[in-house]
Amino acid sequence: MPQLQQLTAVPAFSAALEAHRAAGRTVGLVPTMGALHAGHASLVRRAAAECDVVAVTIFVNPLQFGPGEDFGRYPRSLAADTALAGEAGAGLVFAPGVEDMYPQGVVTSVHVDGLTDVLEGASRPGHFDGVATVVAKLFAMAGRCRAYFGVKDYQQLAVIRRMAADLSFPVDIVGCPTVREPDGLALSSRNAYLSPADRRAAAVLYRALELGASVIGAGELVPPVLSAAMSAFLADQPRVDVDYAVAVDAAHLVAPAAFDPGDEVRLLVAAWLGATRLIDNLGVVVPDPARTTTPSRKADASCAGA
Ligand code: PAF
Repeated sequence: MPQLQQLTAVPAFSAALEAHRAAGRTVGLVPTMGALHAGHASLVRRAAAECDVVAVTIFVNPLQFGPGEDFGRYPRSLAADTALAGEAGAGLVFAPGVEDMYPQGVVTSVHVDGLTDVLEGASRPGHFDGVATVVAKLFAMAGRCRAYFGVKDYQQLAVIRRMAADLSFPVDIVGCPTVREPDGLALSSRNAYLSPADRRAAAVLYRALELGASVIGAGELVPPVLSAAMSAFLADQPRVDVDYAVAVDAAHLVAPAAFDPGDEVRLLVAAWLGATRLIDNLGVVVPDPARTTTPSRKADASCAGA
């Protein structure tokens, strides 16, 4: 395996990727906050399969944490993360400090209107400004590349796609499927916070999404009714405190009066288990009743409209 390059300085990172492109190599970028798990490894492997060189960025971005959120206790494990990134096929790990990323503090930020008002944006004010700002900076530093993000953070992916398009970054955004535990729990760095009992209970998030998909399959196409079914299921579960459970139009993240056959629906849930807030989502294409009653799961691997 070739030597893994480890950098912390922004000019060195930009120069390294520029040198790869000058040598005719395509660049894959996998932005992360560290605490890497098999979900991140799948992003790196996909990037390595599609690009000549893969850079993983590891930066716990203070801008995207609200007051009282888990910035201070967010898991930091640079040595293990670097090893995982290298094993999955990365050629470069960029792990800047706050002083590298924000040497003059922050007086400029990126705001994506509309998409950020709802769901995570409503529950975590300012969160997506922090995400859009740091990802815009990483894109500016990295230059032309393909950038890989998990569909697990569906709204984040939609915000990043819109930000990159609006600001004309020469970056192709690739959405990659959620990796799940055998019981359905989506892999997340925050799963590490869960007590054993909360971890067992957490699988109900995915079951709520599956319930929503089956209710659509049974012909229910009115968003508040779908939301109520998923919320009621979650409200019945021990240890789970629901924040939201919704069915929205996959492209715009808003609920129409009713879905029609062929519509792409995104089911999204957020819930607290103890002090840990988890999110998950599932894509469903509304079936045509004349043809089938089985809703097809959206192939998240392409996820072009996210
Ligand atoms: O999804 C994450 O890990 C972060 O939000 C990201 C995209 C790396 C920005 O800090």
